[in-house]
This record gives sequence, C-alpha cells and structure tokens, in this order.
Amino acid sequence: MDRIRIVGGNPLNGVIPISGAKNAALPLMIASLLTDRTVTLENLPRLADVSLLVRILSNHGVDYSIDGRRQGEEQDAGQTVHMTAREIVDTVAPYELVSRMRASFWVVAPLLARCGEARVSLPGGCAIGTRPVDLLLMALERLGASIEIDAGYVVAKAHKGLRGAEVTFPKVTVGGTHVALMAAALAQGTTVLHNAAREPEVLDLADLLVKMGARIRGAGQSVIEIDGVARLNGAKHRVLPDRIEAGTYAMAAAMTGGDVMLQGAKAEHLKAALDALEQSGATVDASEEGLRIRRNGSPIRPVDISTAPFPGFPTDLQAQFMALMTRAKGVSRITETIFENRFMHVQELARFGAQIRLEGDSAIVEGRPVLKGAPVMATDLRASVSLVIAALAAEGESMVQRVYHLDRGFEALERKLSRCGADVTRISSGD
Ligand code: EPZ
Repeated sequence: MDRIRIVGGNPLNGVIPISGAKNAALPLMIASLLTDRTVTLENLPRLADVSLLVRILSNHGVDYSIDGRRQGEEQDAGQTVHMTAREIVDTVAPYELVSRMRASFWVVAPLLARCGEARVSLPGGCAIGTRPVDLLLMALERLGASIEIDAGYVVAKAHKGLRGAEVTFPKVTVGGTHVALMAAALAQGTTVLHNAAREPEVLDLADLLVKMGARIRGAGQSVIEIDGVARLNGAKHRVLPDRIEAGTYAMAAAMTGGDVMLQGAKAEHLKAALDALEQSGATVDASEEGLRIRRNGSPIRPVDISTAPFPGFPTDLQAQFMALMTRAKGVSRITETIFENRFMHVQELARFGAQIRLEGDSAIVEGRPVLKGAPVMATDLRASVSLVIAALAAEGESMVQRVYHLDRGFEALERKLSRCGADVTRISSGD
C-alpha cells in the first residue's frame, strides 16, 4: 500500500488549480442512466471513486469514452467523458461494487425510473458512523415504488411507472435529494420536495437534468418542484469546482502560514468555512480567478464551529478545521451534527502532540504552539487529509499510511502541494 512522506515546516506558497467536485461528479455520472442519449461531462476529476463508478455504470450498460489530452492542456485539466446508456442491460447493482462506494447506491433511482425495477445492494463506503438509506427509500415509496429488502439487497419496483408526490424529508439529506430529483424527473405528474438539501452539488445535478429536458424549479432552495417528463435527452455539462478540495487547501495555507491562490474556487460555495478561517486570523480575497488565502505570521486564533447542512459549515471540512485548531492560541470547540462517529482523526491528530478531548458530539481542542511529525493513518477520506495538513505544519517527518483513502477524493494531492513548496513524496508499496 502506498504511503506519503511529509517533512513539515514549509509554508504553502503558489497556485493550486481546483479540480471538478467528486461529490457533484458522482450523481452527474449516475444521471446518465436516465437517458438513451449521450451525456458529456467536462472537468471530471481523475479519482479512484470516479473510475470505480465508471465500472459500476458500465455493468448496467453505459458505454463511455474519455477524450485524450489536447495540445497545450494543463496536466491537471479535468477529463471529458461521454456516457451513453443506450440500453440498460442489468438492473442489479451487486454487493461487491456498491459496498466499495456508498454513492453508487443512488443508481437505484434512474434504474427504477427507466426500467421499472432495480435490485441494489445496501451500501458501504467511508466508516463515518451508521449511514442509513431509509430516507432515500421513503422518497421512492412516496413516488409509488414498492420496496423490499431481500438478502442485503433493496428490491424496488414500479412496473406502472413512478408518480409525482409530496416528499418531506425529516432531515436534510444530500443523497436523498439526488435520488428524489432523478426519480421525479421521469415520474408522471408533479413532485414537491420539502426540506431538500441546498448543497451546490444538488444544484449542479438539477442543472444537468434541466439541460436534459427535466422541468425543475427551486433547486438550491429547500422546496423543489419537479414536473415529470416522459423521456430525457443527452446533454453536455461542466462539473462544478470542488469546494471541499478548495476548503482543504485553504486550511493548509492558513495552518502553514502561507499564501495560495485556489484557482477556480468559488467563495459562495464556502462562505461558512471562509468566515471561520477569517476569524482564525487568515486573510481571504475572492476574485474572478479564485480565492487567495494567506496568513502571514499572525497567530492562529481559536474558533468554535458546528457542522450543518449547506450553507452551514460542511462536515466534510470538519477534520481539516480541527487540524488547524490544534495550533491555535487557545481552546476551540468543534461540534459535529451530521454524522455521529466522525471523530476518528482525533486519536491520530494526538500522535502529532495535539490536545483534543471528546465530549459527546463535540471535540475540545487545546491549541499547541508546536506539533511533531509522526506516523499516522486514517479510516476515511477527509480524516486522512486532515493528517496531511497537520503533517505539513509539524516539525520533522510524518508518514501518512493508507493513501488509498486520499486517492478516492483528492486529485494529484502530492503534485499540487509540492508545487507550492511542500516537502511531500509518495512512496509506492513496491519501493
Ligand atoms: C453526502 O453523503 C456526501 N457524499 C458526503 O461526503 C457528505 O459528508 C454528506 O453528503 C453530508 O454533506 C457524496 O456526495 C458522495 P446525507 P450522503 O444523506 O448523501 C442521515 C465525502 O467525504 N441519513 O446528506 O450520504 C445520515 O446518516 C462524503 O466526500 C439518514 O438518516 O449524506 C446523516 O446523518 C462523506 N437516512 C445525514 O442524514 C438516510 O436515508 C446526512 O447524510 C440518508 C441520510
């Protein structure tokens, strides 16, 4: 298994191009199952999760082709992928594939909407607490599907087609909103989603669906209305920039006392995180080019945060912000309200000398002036990258194990960091 060696202490200085968002790319790719025409996605990140989803979708009958690199194109430019599900050849999504990536469970919606049935394994994915799918299934049932659980599989049927309905989510769910949007797009009649997720990735999916001919009003707000159509067309769409990748490098720049331009990042996608960064003493400048983040010599101030659905502070940046707070001058409280077990990075951050105490759904972080490099590993994607951030600011050498978590969600991590002056090397398992 690959490892990443980091010698900390260098401030990050330079330009980091932000890739297409993983969490937008995945539902956009899945939406290609809704039509027999070609869906072209530009700016798709080169990530293990994207490659795995391509495999999963091709099992259902999606043909795909990837454009080669063009003259003068940057090494980090996103890929353009053409996906065509002319015919759905299999409505079963097997355990072996779905257990490796939770988001692949969302294929249940387009398979059901287009073929009237789907048999999809209950999901796996990152170890961040119990992550049920009851609300996704509730939405499909409201739209007229019959749902049974059989030997670890969800069996969903709607042989007479789905019907528009009122769906009220008792809790904001990104996946639930994606699933309901895709299913309702091909249902008969009007669907109204109440308490829908407002994440930019939901808006991106709705934008693609509208280009495909769907009739959607209110995406990006908590009430979304969808008038179902009989069929959807092909479309071309550019994946939005990854706000979590941008937020991660913003924390790294603030932590190392650097100055970086996050090219392509959008301030409106990151307001809560940028506010917290500014309160911690970093300077944030938004421009056409992207976001410039710097902290020159000023101490890191402690800031309390609590995660919340968009536009609140994202749970996917909680671990990275905690890493920053381990070097703050004072005590901060970090509260996780979305997932009940998303503190696995705490014991690993402690290896650097961080002082963190857990109190229910909060972590109390007592900042320290110095962290010391250490061997560390983490069990999920965002936790892993919080260790990278801490290692960049720690004295001496750190070795981050289980790099495959990082490869799921951070494109060209070592290259982007090295170009900004970090001492980062990947050590392949063969070395
Ligand atoms: C998406 O997961 C993201 N994944 C997650 O990012 C992100 O942390 C999460 O949204 C919250 O922002 C992708 O987009 C691929 P949810 P999702 O449904 O859709 C509960 C990463 O690192 N819930 O919004 O699975 C659930 O347990 C990943 O990139 C139910 O109770 O999250 C949680 O407490 C990790 N029943 C809350 O809702 C359900 O049926 C929000 O989850 C569904 C969810």
